[in-house]
Amino acid sequence: MTSLSSIAVGGGPFERDTDPNPSPSSSIDSNTTPDTDFTPMGSPFQEVAVPKNKRFLAKKKLANLTQEEKISLLTAADFWRTKSIPEKGIPAVKTSDGPNGARGGIFVGGTKAALFPCGISLAATWNKALLREVGRHLAEEAKARQANILLAPTVCMHRHPLGGRNFESFSEDPLLTGKLAAQYIKGLQERGVAATIKHFVGNEQETHRLTVNSVIAERPLREIYLRPFEIAVREAKPWAVMSSYNLVNGVHADMNTHTLKEVLRDEWKFDGAVMSDWGGVNSTAESIKAGCDIEFPHSKKWRYEKVMEALNKGELSQADIDRAAENVLTLVERTKGSDLTPEAAEREDDREETRELIREAGIQGLTLLKNEGSILPINPKTTKVAVIGPNANRAIAGGGGSASLNPYYTTLPLDSIRKVAEKPVTYAQGCHIYKWLPVASPYCSDKTGKPGVTIEWFKGDKFKGEPVVIQRRTNTDLFLWDSAPLAQTGPEWSAIATTYLTPKHSGKHTISYMSVGPGKLYINGKLSLDLWDWTEEGEAMFDGSVDYLVELEMVANRPVELRVEMTNELRPLSKQKQMGMTHRYGGCRIGYKEADQIDYLQQAIAAASSADVAIVIVGLDAEWESEGYDRQTMDLPYNGSQDRLIEAVVAANPNTVVVNQSGSPVTMPWADRVPAILQAWYQGQEAGNALADVLFGLRNPSGKLPCTFPKRLEDTPAYHNWPGENLEVIYGEGIYIGYRHYDRTKIAPLFPFGHGLSYTKFEYGRPSLSSRVLRENGVIELCVAISNVGEYDGAETVQVYVRDEKSKLPRPEKELVAFEKVALERGETKHLRMELDKYAVGYYDTDKKGWVAEEGRFVVLVGSSAGDIK
Ligand code: BGC
Repeated sequence: MTSLSSIAVGGGPFERDTDPNPSPSSSIDSNTTPDTDFTPMGSPFQEVAVPKNKRFLAKKKLANLTQEEKISLLTAADFWRTKSIPEKGIPAVKTSDGPNGARGGIFVGGTKAALFPCGISLAATWNKALLREVGRHLAEEAKARQANILLAPTVCMHRHPLGGRNFESFSEDPLLTGKLAAQYIKGLQERGVAATIKHFVGNEQETHRLTVNSVIAERPLREIYLRPFEIAVREAKPWAVMSSYNLVNGVHADMNTHTLKEVLRDEWKFDGAVMSDWGGVNSTAESIKAGCDIEFPHSKKWRYEKVMEALNKGELSQADIDRAAENVLTLVERTKGSDLTPEAAEREDDREETRELIREAGIQGLTLLKNEGSILPINPKTTKVAVIGPNANRAIAGGGGSASLNPYYTTLPLDSIRKVAEKPVTYAQGCHIYKWLPVASPYCSDKTGKPGVTIEWFKGDKFKGEPVVIQRRTNTDLFLWDSAPLAQTGPEWSAIATTYLTPKHSGKHTISYMSVGPGKLYINGKLSLDLWDWTEEGEAMFDGSVDYLVELEMVANRPVELRVEMTNELRPLSKQKQMGMTHRYGGCRIGYKEADQIDYLQQAIAAASSADVAIVIVGLDAEWESEGYDRQTMDLPYNGSQDRLIEAVVAANPNTVVVNQSGSPVTMPWADRVPAILQAWYQGQEAGNALADVLFGLRNPSGKLPCTFPKRLEDTPAYHNWPGENLEVIYGEGIYIGYRHYDRTKIAPLFPFGHGLSYTKFEYGRPSLSSRVLRENGVIELCVAISNVGEYDGAETVQVYVRDEKSKLPRPEKELVAFEKVALERGETKHLRMELDKYAVGYYDTDKKGWVAEEGRFVVLVGSSAGDIK
């Protein structure tokens, strides 16, 4: 195993004299998972030798299968597993989401797991060795969930700042994305867990993601959107690729011969299995023929009998079926071989070394955007700080959707800051930023008096007879996509959820309720919200209604009974026809908020005025940024509350540091007036500790922006083509996404791509090249000296861009072609060497249907960001 010291960079000015490994503080949103096993702390990782030539073994097994058995392999056995055929020595393999952890088999409230920084936070480290190590640790986490395949990494491009899943993917630049993804994949697979690089391809938005047609001209498709996949496939050979939901140039991604066959298989020689996104298969013969080998999750809509029919009709050949089945078997061979031991229960595996890695990754991803007057780092011995803001005392550890999981623990910024600061720390929440009211869970008990909610499940959708299953769930966010007890209820179910909500204070409080299927909320036996036939679609749970609110006078400590009746019939009703089904999955969410007891803004101003430094922790959260929908605005929510808070705090105390937690850019109208801004992303379970380490200078920040932070949404490349109309989105900006656009239009961004400051100073030497001529298949070595001439140990990422001075086709002003992160002690100089080859100068010529490296002059630019070329 790589030691942490080889990936750690940058010490800090102040000695740590607090506990370096404080015990975790729990988040109000975390769930308890009963009946999970624990690995004893400190038990060593198992090294895995991955045997070679798995395809050969797969072919041998394929030869023994009947036609039915082959076809059965082309669809999953359930939500997460492939089909096993024990009599032929074929085990099932289990998948698990997702990019920043291994969640296991339950979407919400499952087995606790390590929560790593999200994709963009990892990308902000620009540290290839660190990504490799993250991959290795994720593999161990996947194994603890008994999973053999991780549904990660996500490498879709940041085409627009409002993309709902930007947080879980890496960057606006294909090279940065591809190089980091390759390391992540290598780390996973060298520990025997398959990577599933996703979503292939053109899935840059969540709006209408199942049905939108991404219209992308061939050149941007090749140079921008396919490129990270290409780098990763060529360098790391992922064992699986996940096709996306959308259409690419008129053809659904799961049946797109151009992308899946001509490019992925024929050109790049991809040798793994292609799996569909969940529910992302759109045909029988076309999808198998194009190369979507296995459908997830289990469904009879397109495969099984339909495959046999297509074969009989001659729409599919035996070779099509054999090829797909062989690819699935190869995936099984690579991950599980012939091991038919029954799958064990999911385990927790909360290891010290993984905690340290997550904290290190967090520190290295923290991106210092501005630090006027060196207000940071804060001296913990002498400075009195006020910690202010809606994200200060909450664990904003990850984005929403399939990337979310139930973390082992979380660390709150406020707690972590209090552990390091030696002077008393004051706190003020400042404002609310709810998208939906907070889940009611902390106030709720079930029918037996335990925390949570009781669910009584009935067979069929008519609440008939006795319940067939009775459950307690700890969360009133009842997302039931994959966790209804279908084995007992059958495919159509009804359920009654009952909980007793005990208010802390007397007053007029608010209860919220949204429903996926038909639902009714009764409060103290009285029907309060009837959503049986709801029509207005909201954003929660992929297919839920909008959130409805009721206000209620309540008395402190006097419980109120909340009862929800719900079924899994499809809503709105019109969808039944569209989707050709009547029942799908159900669920609901119950939220609760007590009336405010104080004036939050005044409290924040008072806290700021009486402190030496005010730290304002603002941003988004997993409700604002999630799979399933895009953001509607780049402004901080809600309704200007956070911008007003920052303006008021900086007016009260000019020594203000703003920490922004988000997975994509936000508008910062106060950026000129605030002396220090730290971009903190979503950093997983160690978010609080990593932040405190950097704020107080125990460590030096070294993150660099993986995406441009624009001044205004109107300045962004896809502004006129987002999110499309009539189910079509035209990638009209072509190859000019991210800094390629800002360079070309000469629009100054707020902070450029690659930008990130340090507490120390770096000096760049004059770069030299090993040759002035690049020959076919040759390389030129670039050498540059870099010195730490400041006060602290630190790390710098040197970025190399190339400009094509004259070219047949228009080209961006410059493109990133290499980067290297280097740790430098105070006073130290190192020489960095980076290789440039034909890929550094090439572009895709649609006329020639291929990549070309034209003869001519190219300028090599070395810089510390796209806006700071040395
Ligand atoms: C997401 C995938 C995810 C899958 C399984 C889909 O909705 O797009 O990224 O891996 O669900 O949760």
